[in-house]
Amino acid sequence: AMPIAVLVSGGGSNLQSIIDRIEAGMLDAEIKVVVSNRGDSFGLTRARNHNIPTRVLLHTDFDSRETFDEEMVRAIRQSGVNETGAVVMAGFMRIVTPVFLEPFRGRVVNIHPALLPSFPGVRGQGDAADYGVKISGCTVHFVDEQMDHGAVIMQAAVPCQPGEGGDALAARILKLEHRILPQALQWLAEGRLELRGRFVHLKPASRNLAIQP
Ligand code: GAR
Repeated sequence: AMPIAVLVSGGGSNLQSIIDRIEAGMLDAEIKVVVSNRGDSFGLTRARNHNIPTRVLLHTDFDSRETFDEEMVRAIRQSGVNETGAVVMAGFMRIVTPVFLEPFRGRVVNIHPALLPSFPGVRGQGDAADYGVKISGCTVHFVDEQMDHGAVIMQAAVPCQPGEGGDALAARILKLEHRILPQALQWLAEGRLELRGRFVHLKPASRNLAIQP
């Protein structure tokens, strides 16, 4: 199983979707640690309910983004996430620096509640609703130094209703997040994602060559 660290800041429903897929045998990963930058994140409770180790790192305890990131790298490495592993930002509301990205280059993914590059930032759903777009959705992407910017792995679209508030839209987008994030992680676990510049290619699933027609 692919060792993963999941970073959360809030409710952790995306974390739950990963836990559920692993327990259903549909995602070949093992969550080694859940890290939160907030002590009151419900994601921590979800992790504890499934006997997953947790770490709380309060960014307010650090004097720079870099020192915070150094500590996150240490915590993730200590948990047993190595070069075969991945780091998942599941509602993690912090920008990371090269200090964090360098050790896990190409193996950090984020879920964002909008169709990037539209509506990056912390209120992607509200911004899309207020703009009046007819379609929004969610994006799983590799993380780079810029916020909500890295190469796109997978997207899903949802129709928007005129005048619908951001909360209603967010709830419908969240349902799709819970489908595409575990799917993208399973592709990563299978070694099927190949990054060529900005483009993520999905390689075909390896067939079982032992079975001949
Ligand atoms: C999710 O909608 C996620 O896409 C979003 O925060 C929510 C976390 O929900 N992330 C961002 O906005 C990142 N820019 P959860 O804690 O229930 O998974």
